[in-house]
Amino acid sequence: MTDREELFARLRRDPDVAAPDLVVVDATDRLLLDEAAGAVAAAGPGEVVVVDDSYGALTLGAVAAGARDVRVHQDLLVGELALARNAGRTGLAGTYRTLPLGPELVAGARVLLAKAPRSLDALRELAELAAGAAPDAVLHVGGRVKHMTPAMNAALGVGFTDVRATLARQKSRVLVARGPRPGVSSSFPRCRPHPELGLTVCAHGAAFAGTRVDAGTRALLTALPGAAPGAATVLDLGCGTGVLATALALARPGAAVTASDASAAAVASAAATAAANGVAGRVRAVRDDAAAAVPDGTVDLVVCNPPFHLGAAVVTGAADRLFAAAGRVLRPGGELWAVYNNRLPHRAALRRLVGPTRVAAADRRFTVTVSTRR
Ligand SMILES: C[S@@+](CC[C@H](N)C(=O)[O-])C[C@H]1O[C@@H](n2cnc3c(N)ncnc32)[C@H](O)[C@@H]1O
Repeated sequence: MTDREELFARLRRDPDVAAPDLVVVDATDRLLLDEAAGAVAAAGPGEVVVVDDSYGALTLGAVAAGARDVRVHQDLLVGELALARNAGRTGLAGTYRTLPLGPELVAGARVLLAKAPRSLDALRELAELAAGAAPDAVLHVGGRVKHMTPAMNAALGVGFTDVRATLARQKSRVLVARGPRPGVSSSFPRCRPHPELGLTVCAHGAAFAGTRVDAGTRALLTALPGAAPGAATVLDLGCGTGVLATALALARPGAAVTASDASAAAVASAAATAAANGVAGRVRAVRDDAAAAVPDGTVDLVVCNPPFHLGAAVVTGAADRLFAAAGRVLRPGGELWAVYNNRLPHRAALRRLVGPTRVAAADRRFTVTVSTRR
C-alpha cells in the first residue's frame, strides 16, 4: 500500500452519515491528485488551493504529496467538519487554512484542485475567482463523466484561455484550465428584482435556484401571511438565497429573523438578499447544519422549503433531518410551515417529527403544510 492509500484508509465521513456503500475517497479525488501530482510537489507554501473537498481526501492527499499551508474552501459545512476531524486523526491538523470563496483564497495560488460543483453558475464563479490567481496558475476540476457537459468547458473559459479534458479513468474526468484571463473579476453575487414579489434576490453560483424564485418558494410565500401571527422569533431553515427570511423580515418588523443553511454560498446569498432589500440588520444569516446551533424550544415560527435531492437520487432523508430540527427548535405551540412537491410523502414524517399537520394551501404541484409543535 502506498503512503497515500494508508492515509486514505484512516479517513472517515463523520459527521456525515456513514454506510457500507458510501465512500470517503472517490475515483475523482484520486484522479485529481494524480493529474496534479507534479505541480503539487513543486508548489511553494500557500500555493495550493482546494475547493469543495468532500471529506478531506484532496486536502490531506495534497499535503501527503508535498503541499504546505493549503488554502481550502468547502461549500458544505459537513465537509469542513469532516476535513478537520480527518486532519486531527491523521496528525495533519494545522496543514491547511479554511477561507471564504473570495480573492484571499486564490491570490498567488499556482495549483487549484476542485471537485466539480453541481451548478454551472458555481463553476463560473470559481473560474472568475481563480482568474485572479498567479499568472501560471492551473485549475483542475474533477467530476464524474456522467455529470460533465461541454457547457462546463465554456464556464471555465470565462476565466481561462485554455481548457482541456483529461482521459476518463474509472468514470471520472478532470478539466484542466490554464492561462488565467487578466482583468476578469467576480460577477457574483448576482441580484435580480422581482417586482411582483416586492423583492430583490441575490445569489452566489452554488445557491439553490440562483436569482430565480422557485415555484415551491412562491407557493409558501403566498401562504405566509397566515403563519403564526405574533411570532417574535422566526427561522428560515435551509434558507438558500434567503427569499423567505427577507420576505418575513419585511412583513414583520417586530420579528427577529434567522436564515440558516449548511451551504456557505447560500448563507452569503441570504445576507446579500437581506441587504439588497434594506433588512440586513434584521436577518441574521448563519451557516449551520440542521439548526444545530439553535437551542431547543426557542423558535415561534420555522419556514422550510426542504431539499429534495441528495446527489442524483430523490430521497426524503435530507428533508426529514430538517423536519426533525424544526420539531426540536420550535417551542410547544410553535409552527412549521413547509412546502413540498405533491408527489413527496412528507405528511407522516411531519406529524411524527413535529406534531399535528394540516394543509394550508395546495395547487396542482405543491402542498403547503402547517405543523404545530406538540
Ligand atoms: C430547496 S432549497 C430551498 C432554499 C430556499 N429556502 C428557497 O426556498 O429558495 C433547500 C436548501 O436546504 C439547504 N439544506 C439542505 N440540507 C441542509 C441541512 N442539513 N442543514 C441546513 N440546510 C440544508 C440547501 O443547502 C438548500 O439551500
